[in-house]
Amino acid sequence: MNEHLKKLIRTHYLSLSGYVSAGMEAAKGDEKIFMNANENPYALPGLGSMNRYPEPQPIELLEAYAKTYGVEPSQILATRGADESIKLLTRVFCEPHKDSILIHPPTFGIYKVDAQSLPVEVLEVPLIEEAGSFALDTEKMIETAKSKKTKIVYICSPNNPTGSSFAHEDILNICTELEGTSVVILDEAYVEFSAKESLTPKLAEHSNLIILRTLSKAYSLAGARMGVTLCADKNFITFMKEKVADIYPLPLPSVMAALRALSPESKDNFQNNIQSIRSERERLKEEFRTSRLIKKTYISDANFLLVKMAIDQGDKSIAGDFIAFCLSQDLILRDLSDKPDTQGCIRITIGSPEQNDYLIKVMKRFEDKMAAAAA
Ligand SMILES: Cc1ncc(COP(=O)(O)O)c(C=O)c1O
Repeated sequence: MNEHLKKLIRTHYLSLSGYVSAGMEAAKGDEKIFMNANENPYALPGLGSMNRYPEPQPIELLEAYAKTYGVEPSQILATRGADESIKLLTRVFCEPHKDSILIHPPTFGIYKVDAQSLPVEVLEVPLIEEAGSFALDTEKMIETAKSKKTKIVYICSPNNPTGSSFAHEDILNICTELEGTSVVILDEAYVEFSAKESLTPKLAEHSNLIILRTLSKAYSLAGARMGVTLCADKNFITFMKEKVADIYPLPLPSVMAALRALSPESKDNFQNNIQSIRSERERLKEEFRTSRLIKKTYISDANFLLVKMAIDQGDKSIAGDFIAFCLSQDLILRDLSDKPDTQGCIRITIGSPEQNDYLIKVMKRFEDKMAAAAA
């Protein structure tokens, strides 16, 4: 394993022997008789080989991911969603009560929650709001990570909940500056919706860069819980598989669903869906530009829009009232208005054209209600 990563891993993990499961001792195959894993020999009708434990990291799946993400199968750890990757990586690098992670609020809440559950300290360098979007405060992030000897810097691009994707130059600059002192975990959960490319081609140039991808968003498989950790160093991936990951992390139906979603037959569907979400995002943005309910819509490279709601006559954000009204109309949006770094904001996931039409209708109804109350 490369020395930069190795020295950041909690030392006891390196000396763990790991668990060799029955499934690891012998590859599954039709011709063999398996009496080694205390499985039930009777498959249920219509449920295929679900009486057997699944392969821990099915090679067919790793090959499909490799083709999709442009890396080698040996550079991939398949996980139960990017959420599991985050949990495992935080745990493997951060020593409880001693280490820290660094995040750039507002960002995806799980980085903080996982760190706090260890617990390890969470350092925050807020994003800089500029020109209807957000940027990383690169210098401050580097300075803070160095001075606090932060183990992990989490960067989410495109970022949840702002939708902004960050300059590649800034992200790579952080990797370069922190080589040997911090791991940079780049969460690209929404990158397929972005005009910017993924940074996976840069993995080989940065020994401290780890990238997370997921099938939950662009591939329509949130219910299957399938994600990956990508790292140029195959020895690090082997280490994660042997000593850190669960023994049987991937349920068989989820693996089957992932293979289907990543197959050439699904490509047209995948591209059409992304195209629709991107054009609907622009349509909604234009609609919001003229809405009296909305003060500002942030630039988004993801499948959602962060909007700042207008202020009412009493100088109070209408966000809470609007969310409650939507609820009364069976429309659920994400209320972020009470959080310190997204005050007065709500996050709206881009729906199908029909769902977006309904949202626009509900917005008009709310406007009418407000006008009637003011009259
Ligand atoms: C930035 C980001 N990363 C990761 C995830 C979780 O992905 P998964 O469904 O693969 O666990 C989400 C889910 O909303 C997210 O917003």
